[in-house]
Amino acid sequence: MVEHAPAKVNLALHVTGRRADGYHLLDTLVVFTGAGDRVSVCDADTDAFHVEGRFASGLQGESDNLVLRARDLLRELAGNGSPVFIMLEKNLPIASGIGGGSSDAAATLRALRKLWGLSTDDTQLKQAALSLGADVPMCLAATPLVARGIGDELEPATGLPPLAMVLVNPGVAVPTPAVFRALANRENPPLPALPARCGFHDFTAWLAPTRNDLQAPAMSVAPVISDVLAALDNGGAALARMSGSGATCFGLFGSFAQAERAAASIAAAEPSWYVQATATIEKAAADVAH
Ligand code: C5P
Repeated sequence: MVEHAPAKVNLALHVTGRRADGYHLLDTLVVFTGAGDRVSVCDADTDAFHVEGRFASGLQGESDNLVLRARDLLRELAGNGSPVFIMLEKNLPIASGIGGGSSDAAATLRALRKLWGLSTDDTQLKQAALSLGADVPMCLAATPLVARGIGDELEPATGLPPLAMVLVNPGVAVPTPAVFRALANRENPPLPALPARCGFHDFTAWLAPTRNDLQAPAMSVAPVISDVLAALDNGGAALARMSGSGATCFGLFGSFAQAERAAASIAAAEPSWYVQATATIEKAAADVAH
């Protein structure tokens, strides 16, 4: 059983307030991409976990990986669950604002629910997802959406055009709590209403005046983010912005061919950066090809 764990991209992220427990209230438009990690599960004699892929080394020696926490939580919830071998192909940079860990955990929940044939209902699964992290419920849905609350109140975002984009990460891990600590203004207005079904130009015109309120605080923690945004602007992006709490930024392009050209030139100029041309997906369909 193989599940795609897509990158999560916050096209806009407004911080609208703060809860008594310190968590921040958000209003964010989220999409998912063809670029992502891959979680494979199969029956085994004993539980085992293996990580491979470009960014596997970033997870070596980590005992509380979100994938394993997701496995243990679902097993507890189900009251059964035979031993499993889980393989994580870690293609996305770690702690980089595109939901890698959260998406891996969500893909693990989706895969094991199928492998174990569980009838766990969606509400239960979403609750379990939220206990793993604020972004895990949206990654479980893995479809274009607006998320509010601490990111757990989800509403489908319909009518968005398919988007070609380039994801760029400069290789600096930015811890989410540090970015929220550096945030000066926590009372920003919510997102304007989404446009009706529209094409690329109308959509980017709607998106342009929105923001990622975490971009400025993340830049104070990791100034290299401004170089990433400049590289995307110079590459011809219609709009370049940081995702989540960074440091990954995305650039939107009118076509996938343009995105690929920009990605090639940024990668040539900055060989140590993660640079990936990709496009949005409508749904994280299980990948049964492997
Ligand atoms: O829920 P998760 O473990 O992903 O959150 C990591 C940290 O990010 C939290 O401990 C909190 O400091 C911050 N955070 C926040 N508001 C959110 C989501 C995360 O302040 N909506």
